[in-house]
Amino acid sequence: MNDITIATVTSKDPEYKAVWQLREDVLRKPLGMSLANEDLSMDAEDTIFIALHDGQVIGCLMLHSISDTVMKFRQMAVSEVWQGKGIGRLLMTAAEQQIAAKGYTTIMLHARQIVCGFYEALGYDITSSAFTEVGIPHVIMKKVLA
Ligand SMILES: CC(C)(COP(=O)(O)OP(=O)(O)OC[C@H]1O[C@@H](n2cnc3c(N)ncnc32)[C@H](O)[C@@H]1OP(=O)(O)O)[C@@H](O)C(=O)NCCC(=O)NCCS
Repeated sequence: MNDITIATVTSKDPEYKAVWQLREDVLRKPLGMSLANEDLSMDAEDTIFIALHDGQVIGCLMLHSISDTVMKFRQMAVSEVWQGKGIGRLLMTAAEQQIAAKGYTTIMLHARQIVCGFYEALGYDITSSAFTEVGIPHVIMKKVLA
């Protein structure tokens, strides 16, 4: 894993195009949907954590500030061939460390129900009943930073 770099970018950086494509391939195409049909204006306010391998964006995680203490994590995606190799954990951990240093105390996210186990492995708890988002069941999960 020492050939993987974690970096932060915004929607103004050149890497954003690759982030858009990764989200499209991993989070939308399998559902028969496209980001092209969505309002992405929120992206401009977000910090985007990316995982890079040989200059390629292979993972992303977007952070949207809800308040001075609460951060929403969204658009967690790892390129299919890289899944199950610790990239998601790397991105989540890097983001948690950065926001803890900035004074955030709580992370919330909308988790696809089928991947709750990923977030549970990272210390997140389910705090809602199931609801539908992008046509599939989700739950709210939260983590209070130590
Ligand atoms: C879910 C996803 C982000 C996880 O990233 P990843 O890089 O594959 O996960 P990691 O290899 O870092 O796994 C970290 C831990 O979570 C566990 N885990 C990963 N995916 C899991 C899953 N789908 N269900 C249960 N546990 C899972 C791993 O076993 C690992 O646990 P361990 O360290 O105790 O062995 C990635 O598989 C993905 O992009 N999936 C498709 C898109 C998606 O569903 N995104 C989330 C939307 S809410």
